[in-house]
Amino acid sequence: MAGYKVISFDKIASTQTYAHNLIARGAAGNCVAVIANAQTAGHGRYKRRWVSKPGNLYVSFIFNDTARNPRLSYAVAVAVAETLITLGAPATIKWPNDILIDGKKICGILIEYNNDFVVVGIGINITSCPDVEKYQTAKLADYCNASRADVMKCLMKNLDVWRGADFKAVRERWTELAAGLNGDVLYRGAPAKLIGINDDGALILRRDDVDVVVFGDEISL
Ligand code: BTN
Repeated sequence: MAGYKVISFDKIASTQTYAHNLIARGAAGNCVAVIANAQTAGHGRYKRRWVSKPGNLYVSFIFNDTARNPRLSYAVAVAVAETLITLGAPATIKWPNDILIDGKKICGILIEYNNDFVVVGIGINITSCPDVEKYQTAKLADYCNASRADVMKCLMKNLDVWRGADFKAVRERWTELAAGLNGDVLYRGAPAKLIGINDDGALILRRDDVDVVVFGDEISL
C-alpha cells in the first residue's frame, strides 16, 4: 500500500480547502490525506453545501497528477463502492461518481485539479445523513458496524488498487456497479437511456436512437 501521510482534524472548515492551501503553500505531496471528524464549510460539486456533522468521514486526498483525467473519477467511485461493499453495504454508483445504497446517496466525491496535483474529496455518511431536498440519503451505520477508521483503511487500500488498475478493468467494474444501466434517466430535463461509459471515460446516453456523449455533467435516475 502507498505510504499515506494523514493529517487529522477534529473540526475544520473544509478538508478540501485545507488540501488546496497545502498545495498553494508548496507543502503538499503525493498521497497526503486530510481527514476531519466534522466540517463547518464542507462543499460539493457546483459549490453545493455538504452538511458535515461529527461522526462521518470527510477526507481529501492529494495525489500527484498533472493532466486532467476523466477516467480518475470512475476509479475513485469504484474504490469507494468496493469499500462499502467489503464493509457490508450494497453500494452502487450513480454517474459520474455518487455512491448510493438502496438508491439513496451515501457518499459524494469532488475531484479538483490544482497545479501538479489532484485533490479527491470524499464524504461518506457513517453515523448520520442529512435531510436533503433534492435526493434521499443513507448512512453506513444502518448496514454495518464499521468505524471511520475501518472505512479509511479499506478506502486507502482500494484507492491504491483502482487508481493503479487498467481502465478496462475499472470500466468493467464500474459497469457492474452502475445504478440504472439500460434504464431511463433524465439528462438536461429530457429523457434518455443510460448506455454506459466509453474508453475515454465519457457517458453514453441514447436519445431517439442516437448516442449522445457526455462529459462532466449530471443525470437524474
Ligand atoms: C458532491 O456530492 O457534490 C461531492 C461532495 C464532496 C464532499 C467532500 S467531504 C470532504 C471534502 N471536503 C469538502 O468540503 N468537500 C469534500
